[in-house]
Amino acid sequence: MTSLFARFGEMKQQGEKIAVLTAYDYPTARLLDESGVDLLLVGDSLGMVVLGYPDTTLVTIEEILHHTRAVARAAKRAPIVADLPFGTYSTPEETVKNARRLIEAGAHAVKLEGGVSHRAQIFALAAEGIPLMGHIGMLPQSVRLEGGYKIKGRTQDEAEHLLADAKVLDEAGAFAIVLELVQKDTAHKISRSIAAPTIGIGSGSECDGQVLVSHDLIGLFPWFTPKFVSPKAAVAQAIREAATDFIRDTKRSPEPLP
Ligand code: KIV
Repeated sequence: MTSLFARFGEMKQQGEKIAVLTAYDYPTARLLDESGVDLLLVGDSLGMVVLGYPDTTLVTIEEILHHTRAVARAAKRAPIVADLPFGTYSTPEETVKNARRLIEAGAHAVKLEGGVSHRAQIFALAAEGIPLMGHIGMLPQSVRLEGGYKIKGRTQDEAEHLLADAKVLDEAGAFAIVLELVQKDTAHKISRSIAAPTIGIGSGSECDGQVLVSHDLIGLFPWFTPKFVSPKAAVAQAIREAATDFIRDTKRSPEPLP
């Protein structure tokens, strides 16, 4: 298990960028795995792009378990990280219990949002030997509290808090840390100050890797695309065209029999 994640620290040292994509189902996970992605994330973004919730706070542990099992059946090479959903890591005991459930479902590591605020939970996972990916910056599970998705680390004070968060995770041995919507100079500074690779999303190109919600990458959620994403495919459009063709063919009057 250790060597599975030690690789990411080595990639950082060697300047090799880490490519991470979200996956929630068998065919997508299998395609992404076969494409050579470094890590698959069963993110709680599934609440929005798969289940139609307004944000990630409604996602349950049962939902993440269900999708983690599907991804685990597909992935042959990329390690799988599963998100601990909102409200499932309030205490160290609850964190370890729920992380174990995700590992039993096929995840190789778990991710939680927070740093200094979740020090006890982070070190509890480390003590149990459960590999952890951190997530700092804009925290989607706090979106209702924050009143929106805002860039973090613009002020000196915010940048210092983020660095302190990153250092807690690094000290606990997190194998990587997601930096979401972190101002790019702050993201650069954090990346250079810790051993763990930083995986950016909307945080500039100086992170040690990048993560995207795969639906954004392939244009499968056309109703909203984050500003920092340039979709590489138009899958929603392909689905609409295939469905329209099928409907037209089905409804066309049959040719009269000879
Ligand atoms: O849930 C998710 O997909 C995530 C990524 C945006 C990092 O946490």
